[in-house]
Amino acid sequence: MRDASALTRGAEAFLSQHPGVSLVALGSGAHAESLDLAPLGLPVRYLPAERNLELAQQYLLLNQLAFGGIGVPRWVLSDLYLLPGAIGLLRCPARMVRPEVRERLGLADEDPTIGAAYYAAPSVTPGLFIGVSLLSFLPGTGAAPWVKVLTLAMLRARRLRGVAQWDNPSVRIHSRLGPLRLVGRVPGGHEYGERTFVYESDVSDGARVAEAMERRVPLPPTRRVAVTDLPALSGLLDRAEAGEVLHLVAPGLDAGHVLVREGEPG
Ligand SMILES: CC(C)(COP(=O)(O)OP(=O)(O)OC[C@H]1O[C@@H](n2cnc3c(N)ncnc32)[C@H](O)[C@@H]1OP(=O)(O)O)[C@@H](O)C(=O)NCCC(=O)NCCS
Repeated sequence: MRDASALTRGAEAFLSQHPGVSLVALGSGAHAESLDLAPLGLPVRYLPAERNLELAQQYLLLNQLAFGGIGVPRWVLSDLYLLPGAIGLLRCPARMVRPEVRERLGLADEDPTIGAAYYAAPSVTPGLFIGVSLLSFLPGTGAAPWVKVLTLAMLRARRLRGVAQWDNPSVRIHSRLGPLRLVGRVPGGHEYGERTFVYESDVSDGARVAEAMERRVPLPPTRRVAVTDLPALSGLLDRAEAGEVLHLVAPGLDAGHVLVREGEPG
């Protein structure tokens, strides 16, 4: 990521506002040397998954808690998350996370736990990662966008493709990294296919990501489309798949509508 100094300042401010939060990566020990373990200048503690089974188990439970029926199966966690890559985690004392997490894991206030996590899978296209799972149990703190930014910096990602539902609050988080270019429908279909889309974020320029994180220089939308208007949303995906440039612009989702900008974002 080039020109990341403003982003570094933002990440440092986030960490100083939330004492006790630290950045950890969990993945196959083989990958430690391939990652940037000082993303944006902040230290990451790399924990090899082969020797940190308890943390892997905690991630598994929390992913299943966050995603319910489509939570990650154990073999997918090992074969498709931890063997090919590494999960970025924000760890913190259990007192900081939602009470249901403490209860589910049986944690005392000062026990360390996962507060937020992001996994993006490597793809066969150089520089392109695929966003797979974002979860946060630290609501209203900015942990969700920051764990995403820091993990992508650790992976040295330049572009990101991800899958989202029009009506999921995560659209607001994804749009904190910059405008979301609509790509189209999910290859091969999806459990929530009728309300799901693929987007792409350009994360190569740290200065632009920093502006977006602070919601500076917002791009005005040209259309607002209700998240319940599935025919109109499907029409947007038809146009995106035909090659038209369409973005969701900040804050992405507002009062039940997605904010669309037609044409180059400028
Ligand atoms: C989605 C998730 C990561 C959001 O994390 P969070 O800590 O709750 O996020 P925040 O409290 O910071 O809120 C994020 C944004 O959503 C908005 N938001 C929160 N709840 C909302 C709701 N019910 N409706 C609309 N917007 C909402 C917030 O205003 C905020 O937007 P802003 O930063 O522009 O103000 C978290 O809820 C989660 O883990 N969900 C389960 C897993 C999931 O669905 N992941 C995303 C798909 S990969």
